[in-house]
Amino acid sequence: MQIYALALEKGGVGKTCLAVNLAAAFSRLNLRVLVIDLDAQAHASHWLGISPTDVRPEDSVLGVLNGRALRDCVRPTDEGVDVLPAHTALASLPVQLATAPNSGLFILQDVLGQLNGPTPDYDIIICDLAPARGPVLATALAAATRCIVPVQPEELVMRALQALAGSVSQAQRVNTHLRGMSIVRNRYAPRSAGDHVYDQLLRDSYRAQLLRTILPVRAALRDSAGLQQSIFRYNGPDANEARNLFLDLVEELINLDGAT
Ligand SMILES: Nc1ncnc2c1ncn2[C@@H]1O[C@H](COP(=O)(O)OP(=O)(O)OP(=O)(O)O)[C@@H](O)[C@H]1O
Ligand SMILES: [Mg+2]
Repeated sequence: MQIYALALEKGGVGKTCLAVNLAAAFSRLNLRVLVIDLDAQAHASHWLGISPTDVRPEDSVLGVLNGRALRDCVRPTDEGVDVLPAHTALASLPVQLATAPNSGLFILQDVLGQLNGPTPDYDIIICDLAPARGPVLATALAAATRCIVPVQPEELVMRALQALAGSVSQAQRVNTHLRGMSIVRNRYAPRSAGDHVYDQLLRDSYRAQLLRTILPVRAALRDSAGLQQSIFRYNGPDANEARNLFLDLVEELINLDGAT
């Protein structure tokens, strides 16, 4: 079972876009996928077709952390993936974790470990994180097998990436299954001289972590969100190209980690 954490403190880089579309791409390969929405914004839940009014706080990870069985909280979606939806009450999650034993560091690892018996329920688990550092990120990294990071070539993103690299190294001390981070160049179109400086910096400093597949700006990846469809169900212009890029990304991840 692979557990991917989509993370970066910088907002709007494409974490949710990748979480939803990677999940749908893995599912197209007949893998069993669960998306865990750890962001109070609930964007991944919405994108996967869940209406916020249908979700109570106890249906989210908050319920699971307070003893509800994960299997009772996950829901099927039209994308063929299951989702543990988010609720705005997740805003209290950092405080809840901070006051739990060990700052709640192993809570998610324990919950997901129970799924990973001799016949795991899922092949792939994808955690969509809020743009923040702190206890939720630490808890997700303590459970993850890989951290996936969408980036653009700009100063604030590079700073956030450096901070995240530190968090990943720290998490690897308590989670020997965490292989490291993989960086996806998303909405990536270096044009200005400044962009090229950061593009070069990225290739020099993070060569080993950079995935080959680059996702350009494509209207389909933005417009599909409004229709609550992954790129694999959305039929507008550019959709086919974007689908193929997500299948390329998934192939890279399977080559790194295996499919289950
Ligand atoms: N390659 C792309 N081409 C066009 N639009 C994109 C692309 N990637 C993401 N977007 C759009 O950019 C916006 C921000 O993306 P997204 O919500 O995935 O970022 P995020 O990192 O999850 O944000 P947050 O930090 O707030 O959780 C969304 O409207 C999304 O649909
Ligand atoms: Mg998001």
